[in-house]
Amino acid sequence: MFGKTCLLPQAGLLLESLAGLAQLQCPLLATGPQSCHAPNPDSLNSCCYNTPGGQLLLTQFWDTAPSTGPADSWTLHGLWPDNCDGSYEQYCAPEREFTNITAVLAQGAPCTLNYMQTYWKDYQGNDESFWEHEFNKHGTCISTLDPKCYRRHQPGDEVVDYFVRAVQLFKTLPSYAWLKQAGIVPSNTQTYTRADIQAALKKHHGHDVIINCNKKKELNELWYHYNAFGSVVNGRFVPVDPVGSPSTCPETGIKYLPKYDTSVPPPSTTTTTTTASPTTTAAPAPTGTVALSGKGYLYASTGTPASAAGFLISGGKWYATGGTPATYTATPNPDGLTFTLNSSKGNCAIQDAADSSLLCSADVVTGSSFGWNGQALTYGGSPAFFADSVPQGQTQATVYAVEKAVGVTFSWSPR
Ligand SMILES: *[C@@H]1O[C@H](CO)[C@@H](O)[C@H](O)[C@H]1NC(C)=O
Ligand SMILES: *[C@@H]1O[C@H](CO)[C@@H](O)[C@H](O)[C@H]1NC(C)=O
Repeated sequence: MFGKTCLLPQAGLLLESLAGLAQLQCPLLATGPQSCHAPNPDSLNSCCYNTPGGQLLLTQFWDTAPSTGPADSWTLHGLWPDNCDGSYEQYCAPEREFTNITAVLAQGAPCTLNYMQTYWKDYQGNDESFWEHEFNKHGTCISTLDPKCYRRHQPGDEVVDYFVRAVQLFKTLPSYAWLKQAGIVPSNTQTYTRADIQAALKKHHGHDVIINCNKKKELNELWYHYNAFGSVVNGRFVPVDPVGSPSTCPETGIKYLPKYDTSVPPPSTTTTTTTASPTTTAAPAPTGTVALSGKGYLYASTGTPASAAGFLISGGKWYATGGTPATYTATPNPDGLTFTLNSSKGNCAIQDAADSSLLCSADVVTGSSFGWNGQALTYGGSPAFFADSVPQGQTQATVYAVEKAVGVTFSWSPR
C-alpha cells in the first residue's frame, strides 16, 4: 500500500536523483549554453537545452489558513519553466499528463515521495491532485523532460525526474532558516519590510527573490529563479535574477503569520495544535513540529489518496468500524516539540524492546515521545505506522512502528 518504503531517507534521496542519469542522451557534464542565453535556441537539441521554458522557478508556500507542513519550514509549490521574457506556457502536452503521481513515485522514488508527504502539501489535503496539477500544468512544458529525450523510456521516468529535481532544489533553499537568521520569524504582531525580507534571502540565493503576499499583506509565497546548463534531469541549475512579474508584497507592513496558531480560530475543525513556546536559543526541531496538547481523538487513514479508516481505541489498538474513538491526552514534553500520550488505560508506548507495537496500559511506566508533523502523528520522526491488515468488522489491529503489510497514518482531532 505504501509501495517500497524509504528506509534510508538521505541516501535514498541521493540514489533516486542518480537513477535517471543513465537513461538520458545528453552529456553528463553539460557543455552547451546556459538556458535563456543561446542566441539561436532553435538550432539546439531541446532535450539537452531547456527551451522555450529556460527560466526555471522553484516556488514555495507559507500556508497558515489552513496551515500545511512543518511549523518551521516553507513547503514546495512547484518547479515551473517560464520563458526567458517572464511569459510562460502551460499544459503543453496532454499525452504527457499523469493521474497516478503517487503510484509512480512509490515505485520510482519512495524517499522523495516520503519527503513530499511532509514538505509538498496541498492546503485542502489532496496531495495527489496538487502534484498532478503541478506536473501536468508545468512539468509537461519542460522540454528536457520530454519522453523522447530518454534512451529507454519507461512510463513515469520524467515524473520521477521532475519531483526528484524539485525536491533536491527545495532542500538547498531553507527559507525559514534564512529569514530567521535575519530576525524575521513568524509573528502575530510584528511586521516586516520587503527590503529586509529581500536582503535576508538574497544573501544566500545571490539574486533577487520574488516575494508574494495575499490581499491582507500576509507573506505567502517565494519564487526563486534559475537558468540551467543542460537537462533538468542531470544538468546544473544556476541562480539568476527574476524576469517577469514583480513581487506582490507591499514595501512595508508585511505580516509573516505563525502556522498552527491557536490564538486565532482555525478555519476548519479538523486539526488544532498548540504552538511551541517561543525559545530564545536557536534549537529548531529536526523535522519542525509543534507539540500536541490536551484531549483528542486519533483517526486512522490508509492509502493514497488517504481515506478515513477508523480510529484508535483505548488500549492503542486500531478499530475500523462501529464503536467510538477513545479520548487521548497529549502532554507536551519540556522541549515543546514532542509529547507523550495516554488514554483511560494508562500511558502509551511503542514497545521498541519487544515488537515495536503500540500499547496504552497501566503497565507502561514511561510513555514514548511522539511528534506531530502538521498532518499526522509521528514516532521517531516518521508518520508511517503499520498493521498486518486493515481491521474489518469487530476485529482490532495491533499498530506497529515497524513495517508490516499495510501502512496507516493517524490524525489528531481535538475534543
Ligand atoms: C501510471 O499511469 C501510466 C499511464 O498513464 C501507466 O503507464 C503506468 O504504468 C502507471 N504507473 C504506475 C506505477 O501505476
Ligand atoms: C493522562 O495524562 C494526564 C495529563 O498528564 C493526567 O492528568 C491523567 O491522569 C493521565 N491519565 C491516566 C489514566 O494515566
